[in-house]
Amino acid sequence: MSNKVLTKEKWEASPFTKKEKIHTQLYETSFSASTAIAVEIADMIREKQSLDEFCVLGLATGSSPKSVYKELVRLHKEEGLSFENVITFNLDEYYPMDPNALQSYVKFMHEQLFDHIDIKPENIHIPEGTLSKTSVGDFCFSYEEEIDKYGGLDIQILGIGRTGHIGFNEPGSSSQSMTRLVNLDSITRMDAASDFFGEENVPIKAITMGVGTIMKARRIIIMAWGETKAGIVAQAIENSPSDNVPASYLQFHPNTSFILDAAAGSELSRRKIPWTLGVIDWNPELTKRAVIWLCETLTKAYFEIDRSRLQ
Ligand code: GLP
Repeated sequence: MSNKVLTKEKWEASPFTKKEKIHTQLYETSFSASTAIAVEIADMIREKQSLDEFCVLGLATGSSPKSVYKELVRLHKEEGLSFENVITFNLDEYYPMDPNALQSYVKFMHEQLFDHIDIKPENIHIPEGTLSKTSVGDFCFSYEEEIDKYGGLDIQILGIGRTGHIGFNEPGSSSQSMTRLVNLDSITRMDAASDFFGEENVPIKAITMGVGTIMKARRIIIMAWGETKAGIVAQAIENSPSDNVPASYLQFHPNTSFILDAAAGSELSRRKIPWTLGVIDWNPELTKRAVIWLCETLTKAYFEIDRSRLQ
């Protein structure tokens, strides 16, 4: 059984589903994974163009989607992909935040994507970091209404924070939550410290689409690259859904895929302990790992194991 890119149908028929509760595709590199995500988005934009409809995209910030945006820009410049029918809604923004500040998600989105494609400025929506406290509630409500007005999100792309957050829905967020003002987790603020030249400068709040807003998207693609994400990704995919890891709520969504590079997928059972899934292409290295795992699991030394029972 290939360890890598399985369509949903093939994945559903695979032994990986003994542990994995969300469709998961493993790519060798973040580059190949990002290209695949960009192709899916481009296909949706073109399909909607052929029907003379808007394509409504939910967009994310952070380092993960940068490579996807780079490929979309390339498709625009070199292959004529037009974004004229595209409406975008960004997931989140720090609060308060000046849109011209170095760390603003408005600036990020313009630099990474919007300034390089033919999207109409009026079709771009990003939560506003300059609102007064008294107007945030109304804004959040109208953000939801605006998404609904365009018929809902066709595709929502997501990264995952080290806390397991999606958007800025930190542990403790409800699965029904809608766009709102939230407090940031200390780990999230620590992770953003270098962007703000010190943790003390990171805002303590943000405006984010809720888990419930995200779950209304017809298609969700969540991406993660690198070893630092491997642990939280495995929890989101393999553990029971819980508010401790908001990304695990995606298990309830019928059309979500986790797209991972090899390092981000390294803590999944299919990679770490494949023998427990019956997916065994034995080689000396795997045999050694399995024996060590068995000794640890049984808390027995190698010579104490009854090897006649091992088949
Ligand atoms: C921020 C964003 C999230 C993003 C996360 C992970 O917290 N609000 O939407 O998923 O960062 O970022 P990165 O992709 O840099 O790991």
